Amino acid sequence: MSRETERLRQLPIKVCASLVCADFLHLERDLKALESAGVDYLHIDVMDGHFVPNFALSPDIMRTVRQVTTLPLDVHLMVEKPERYLKSFVEAGAEILVVHQEATVHLQRTLSHIRSLGAHAGVALNPATSLHTLEYVLEDIDLLLIMTVNPGFVGQRLVPSTLQKIADARRMFDQCGLSTSIQVDGNISFANAPRMASAGANFFVGGTSSIFQPSITISEGVRRLRIAAEDGRQALTQ
Ligand code: DX5
Ligand code: ZN
Repeated sequence: MSRETERLRQLPIKVCASLVCADFLHLERDLKALESAGVDYLHIDVMDGHFVPNFALSPDIMRTVRQVTTLPLDVHLMVEKPERYLKSFVEAGAEILVVHQEATVHLQRTLSHIRSLGAHAGVALNPATSLHTLEYVLEDIDLLLIMTVNPGFVGQRLVPSTLQKIADARRMFDQCGLSTSIQVDGNISFANAPRMASAGANFFVGGTSSIFQPSITISEGVRRLRIAAEDGRQALTQ
């Protein structure tokens, strides 16, 4: 087994549930179901109507959620100039705070500010944005979020070129001796997750394509998504 494969094996697989896909009329019920299903993170999609043409979630929702669950919060800021809001989101409970490379001019400053606030610093890339834009900030990143759809809406189809991007990102980190986590978000179905895991992803955001499918329970969705990701990892290391 190569050193790269060995390094990837050490990275735990994490299942993140996309809160925006939950049933808001029965939010507490869904949160309890996610907790007992053993989900690792609640993925909070924040949309400002500018960076993406849609609106979603906020620090207020995070504070409400905090009242009924202790699940760690992984916050995906799809907002322009996210540097204006870092403190509010960390104070509202973000353990991982992800900003888009396309949305902040001084990315390095933004990432080190997140760490100085005590959260893990993440950066997200839209499907069209090159990995090269991160070349000089690799040491400042705890998690790279590779968008596998264009952000802003649930229920979209995978952009196929993002599979190659996951593999390229894993190679880039390996070449620098880094074991940075790679998260994937958008159309993470039971069929797509194994391919993403074998390309090098280890954080999987489950939305309407897996955890929140109307035809299965949340518990079944979480279980099947974890198995799908582990199957992909297995294929890689055999
Ligand atoms: C990204 C989306 C995703 C969400 C969608 O903009 O909001 O965070 O998880 O899940 P799917 O693609 O499965 O509906
Ligand atoms: Zn997201």
